[in-house]
Amino acid sequence: MTKVITFAIQKGGVGKTMTSGVTAFLLAKQGHKVLAVDMDSQGNLTQFLSGSDNLLDFENETVLEAIKEGDAKKYIKVLDDNLHLLPTDDFLATIAHYLFTEHRGHRSLALKECLESVRDYYDYIIIDTPPALSEQTINSLGASTHVVVMFETSKFCYNAVPRFLDTVQAAKEKINPDLEIAGILRTLADAKRSDSKAMVDLIAEEYPDLVFDTVIQRRATTGRLPIYGLWENPESKKAFEYHGKFLKELIERVTKKAK
Ligand SMILES: Nc1ncnc2c1ncn2[C@@H]1O[C@H](COP(=O)(O)OP(=O)(O)OP(=O)(O)O)[C@@H](O)[C@H]1O
Ligand SMILES: [Mg+2]
Repeated sequence: MTKVITFAIQKGGVGKTMTSGVTAFLLAKQGHKVLAVDMDSQGNLTQFLSGSDNLLDFENETVLEAIKEGDAKKYIKVLDDNLHLLPTDDFLATIAHYLFTEHRGHRSLALKECLESVRDYYDYIIIDTPPALSEQTINSLGASTHVVVMFETSKFCYNAVPRFLDTVQAAKEKINPDLEIAGILRTLADAKRSDSKAMVDLIAEEYPDLVFDTVIQRRATTGRLPIYGLWENPESKKAFEYHGKFLKELIERVTKKAK
């Protein structure tokens, strides 16, 4: 069964795109068939995976058009045998207007419906989301089997976690009973700062069953991935080190939790 995994939280700049992008890339490298879906109109995942800085490359051929058509097939870009991308551009920001005024089906299941025709082809579908509890995020939760709750080790993100977990619970009850929390991933941790370390510990105390053991540390080589790229990066071994450990745990969890 295809695992559809959303990386989300309403807080910005916490490593959602970094983690979803590297996860999609490493899964594909391991031989899995992967579709990455960019549900953030910033287009960072599109840029990160395609290596293109110009979102005009994808004009009128994005996830927004796929949702409007109700079928993603025509809009998927083949980046590699194993890694495919459903890209975005700025116009995805108009999706709420479309969903509220023109969409005929269920407003929160529009993404799920457009992925239906391609879903079985993939082992994993990885979805990146914007820093908001917007229609993009709700549709991502509606389409997913699992969600990874992103936790950057800061106070504002700490405040966002319980509210986001409430949103996940509401999505499970109202639109997607299959949705499971894969876990809470602690990211951008700074070993030199005691406040960051305290946040790492605090979230583990509060959610001992949910946190992944792996803590993604802030690391220069990882931060440079968007500059040097994923595909032929001389620093990749160091840059991917923590994400590789996280991926092992993620695969174990989403496989074990499968019914
Ligand atoms: N482990 C890391 N070490 C160093 N830098 C990182 C790491 N993870 C992410 N970054 C950097 O931190 C910044 C924020 O990461 P990213 O863009 O993935 O966050 P985001 O949650 O997707 O942001 P947004 O909410 O705007 O979509 C980026 O510049 C990214 O390169
Ligand atoms: Mg992002």
